[in-house]
Amino acid sequence: MDGTADIGLIGLGVMGANLSLNIAEKGHRIAVFNRTAARTEAFLENAGALRSNIVPCYTIADLAAAIRPPRPVIVMVQAGKAVDEQIALLRGVLSDNDIIIDAGNANFRDTMRRFDELKSTGLTFIGMGVSGGEEGARNGPSIMVGGREESWKRVEAVLTAIAARYKGEPCAAWLGENGAGHFVKTIHNGIEYADMQMIAEIYGLMRDGLGMPAREIGEVFAGWNKGRLNSYLIEITAAVLAAEDPETGQPVVDIILDRAGQKGTGRWSVIEAQTMGVPATAIEAAVAARVISGMRGERLAAERVYGKATARLDGDPATSLRDMELALLAGKIAAYAQGFAVMDAASNEFGWGLPLPTVARIWRAGCIIRSQFLDAIAEAFAAAGSADNLLMAPSFVAMMKEAHPSLRRIVARASEAGLPVPALSSALAYFDAYRQGRGTTNLVQAQRDFFGAHGFERLDADGAFHGPWSSAAQHGDPKQV
Ligand code: 6PG
Repeated sequence: MDGTADIGLIGLGVMGANLSLNIAEKGHRIAVFNRTAARTEAFLENAGALRSNIVPCYTIADLAAAIRPPRPVIVMVQAGKAVDEQIALLRGVLSDNDIIIDAGNANFRDTMRRFDELKSTGLTFIGMGVSGGEEGARNGPSIMVGGREESWKRVEAVLTAIAARYKGEPCAAWLGENGAGHFVKTIHNGIEYADMQMIAEIYGLMRDGLGMPAREIGEVFAGWNKGRLNSYLIEITAAVLAAEDPETGQPVVDIILDRAGQKGTGRWSVIEAQTMGVPATAIEAAVAARVISGMRGERLAAERVYGKATARLDGDPATSLRDMELALLAGKIAAYAQGFAVMDAASNEFGWGLPLPTVARIWRAGCIIRSQFLDAIAEAFAAAGSADNLLMAPSFVAMMKEAHPSLRRIVARASEAGLPVPALSSALAYFDAYRQGRGTTNLVQAQRDFFGAHGFERLDADGAFHGPWSSAAQHGDPKQV
């Protein structure tokens, strides 16, 4: 006899458990399975009244039997090998048209492989990015779906019911075939890295350049959260800076070791950007900053050798803070422009047809980078009708014109004081290079031609040419100057 559950879920870790409760709460019956039965028991005990919508299963065969066909099963286990193991097990118990949904932070290349591997089995596959952490999973995440559109149609009702809402619109969407959803989630995280790093850099300038205590810095961020920087990340930054360690009474942030972890999605964003030849320098700088943060021993040794940067940011602190707010806005625009440009390139490369306005729309609520700013991005892309760089959208041109002088001043002052601002300065360098009509790679082309006879184009004539520099460079097809 077929089961009665609408959907199944494997993996009752923090994200899986909260997603299950969210699904049960929205009136969908969910069958759950976890490798260790004790966790399933503990989950049920905490489910309260939602228990009536939850079917606990203690084998994977029971899980399959508990779901009404065609069976959608969410796999929420650690990305990598564990996903392949669960898929192998599910292949033994599922039947034609059932859908396996990987909701972890998978590398989209694994998702593409899994999609292909399952093609001939009668099962279908969805790679689903879920953002919002524990709280989002429980009360409304942002959901980025990749796979066949008909697979999405079969799970759309459940997924839109559990997703976050922005002014009533659900933050869940089908974005394209196979790896599209996981790719978009990866870039979401890459942007998240850049956003967090730039906030941390500004925090550093207030701490080390203006000598402000954590509590005061928190108040500044709380103020900014009421303006154009309003976002979840600024909001939690203010909350974090206000928190005190109950043991010592010190601000918690002052006793946290300055060594940041990373699980891979930021790095994947950079690798894919490089592979496609799209500059994502702010994201790259943010990933590198986490790597350098891990080299604590070397940093301390180098500080002993070179000395600590002791210079303060001079001038009126209130003016500096106003500049910092705008600098953060300008840096953010450049970082988001990069992230969206990477998605646009991937969309062409993999034939996904990624709807960039929709991506921005489903990031407006639920996810970690949620903000009003994304509403402006959604509008800009929708109005453009094509995926021009965000820096060219009229509303962003106006914002950038207003904000980039502040970014320039802040980066200049930080570097004079010896305070590192790698993501902000990369964002500025990207902007300056992007808007420079006559760059300097004419010299690079000349150098390449000199040592490698690579040829160059001329401003005043069509075709490929060689320079008059040496006999070594004067061979091959291109004409001599
Ligand atoms: C989200 C987060 C989530 C998680 C990542 C962060 O969107 O909900 O991005 O996916 O926090 O694990 O990655 P790092 O551990 O690499 O910082």
